[in-house]
Amino acid sequence: MIYKFYQQHIFPHLLNQVMQVPSLMDKRRELLLPIQGEVLEIGFGTGLNLAFYQAVDTVYALEPNIEIYQLAAQRIHETPFEVQHIQASAEKLPFADRSLDHIVCTWTLCSIADVELALDEVYRVLKVGGTFHVVEHVLHNENHNIQRLQNLFTPLQKRVADGCHLNRNIEQALKNADLEITELQYFDAEGIPSIGRRMLLARAVKS
Ligand SMILES: C[S@@+](CC[C@H](N)C(=O)[O-])C[C@H]1O[C@@H](n2cnc3c(N)ncnc32)[C@H](O)[C@@H]1O
Repeated sequence: MIYKFYQQHIFPHLLNQVMQVPSLMDKRRELLLPIQGEVLEIGFGTGLNLAFYQAVDTVYALEPNIEIYQLAAQRIHETPFEVQHIQASAEKLPFADRSLDHIVCTWTLCSIADVELALDEVYRVLKVGGTFHVVEHVLHNENHNIQRLQNLFTPLQKRVADGCHLNRNIEQALKNADLEITELQYFDAEGIPSIGRRMLLARAVKS
């Protein structure tokens, strides 16, 4: 009961705060500025990406957790383009095959229970030539001490942070899904503890 209270009433507010660290907001801007037209956001969260879309006319805001989505209300209200909530999971996207030009995922592939299935779904619903735009915290491939800590603390992290894995190799997962990586940038985000600081910004195309 206490855990359920934490998940419903405390975690969404913590998430909303943590995800506004300035170094993460800078990367949102870099990732989202080039996107035009319609975009599907998987794991929309509290709407922190909305301010960075400059040429978008519709955002399909796929977010399964209603307590989290509710915290986006004010941001949606202030947004000049259409935002449509879709309460569904990444593992079963309610979109037709080859129907979307752009899909965005920011710090969400870590939390999806079946990330391989979700990426198969991304591949299915992207048009040929469509782009998947991603920024995520990832397994630290170069630092084995951090990697060990990431593996050690992932079970705890999953409990306190709604299923979040510290140790996912997202580059490999994109490749496994047959997406062609066109941009790949690893960086360490300022203001984030070392165990979750390693990040990947990537774009991948369905060719
Ligand atoms: C760390 S938050 C990131 C939120 C937002 N994308 C951001 O950048 O601030 C992860 C989000 O993924 C959502 N999520 C978790 N599992 C999911 C799934 N299977 N399908 C879609 N979204 C999921 C969570 O509800 C949460 O809103």
